[in-house]
Amino acid sequence: MKEQTENIEIVTNTFEKKKVVIQIEHLKKSFNGKSILKDINLNVHKGENVVIFGKSGIGKSVLIKCIVGLIYPDSGLLKVFDQDVAEMNPHELNELRTRVGFIFQGNALYDSMTVRENLEFPLRRNKTIQDPAVIEKLIFESLENVGLVDAIDKMPSELSGGMKKRIGVARTLILKPEIILYDEPTTGLDTLTSREISSLIVEIQQKYKTSSIIISHDLNCAKITSNRMLILHDGVIRAEGTFDELRNSNDEWISSYFKID
Ligand SMILES: Nc1ncnc2c1ncn2[C@@H]1O[C@H](COP(=O)(O)OP(=O)(O)O)[C@@H](O)[C@H]1O
Ligand SMILES: [Mg+2]
Repeated sequence: MKEQTENIEIVTNTFEKKKVVIQIEHLKKSFNGKSILKDINLNVHKGENVVIFGKSGIGKSVLIKCIVGLIYPDSGLLKVFDQDVAEMNPHELNELRTRVGFIFQGNALYDSMTVRENLEFPLRRNKTIQDPAVIEKLIFESLENVGLVDAIDKMPSELSGGMKKRIGVARTLILKPEIILYDEPTTGLDTLTSREISSLIVEIQQKYKTSSIIISHDLNCAKITSNRMLILHDGVIRAEGTFDELRNSNDEWISSYFKID
């Protein structure tokens, strides 16, 4: 038992020594007088996968939307790659969003576009890449990464839930983001498909050395993907540790999150 704990600490420390890519201090956000995020403090290190766990409606999506400037916090510090998000102009925000991929809850694929067109979309918006041969190469490369090259000319309606999710991941990967924010990547998928998507998240982390925040309330997904896990509750991060540290915690409140209901 003790030996295992020591091992885990070494793994955690490996990331702590790395550069901080997301720095959040005393972040607060209210909506219509209701305080959602009260005092969030969180650093994400280069190469690290951080899972944020928490009940529905607790503010998980709000938190990651703040990171890409889709929602502005009321106060607190929020820096991504050492840059203060609150001070970014529209051009800088655009640039930030090419470096930080966001995989929204649900699939958010454009239903009227083929897979190829869906993948082209971020490239066309990000006008720096225009050469058709380069675009073609990037589309194939990102489809290869998610194992779906054959789906290139399909419509989203022809794909299963898991395949749509993979295309969503491919579309984010196409801009080679350094950070990926996954909002509930396995919600609505069956157990086997959830596991495949969770493994894909780890493959991407290892291949591209991306740093990620993964919002989830799927225990299997958290176990597979997390280097560190946080529990968000009542506007603050109430618990933090590796998956096993939290699961084995003597604190009943923490361990209640690990009971399958
Ligand atoms: N743009 C918004 N305007 C007003 N209230 C919002 C907005 N976005 C989120 N909220 C509220 O903030 C709370 C947290 O939402 P959210 O972050 O989506 O929860 P979850 O943890 O399930 O992702 C909810 O009560 C939600 O209604
Ligand atoms: Mg949410």
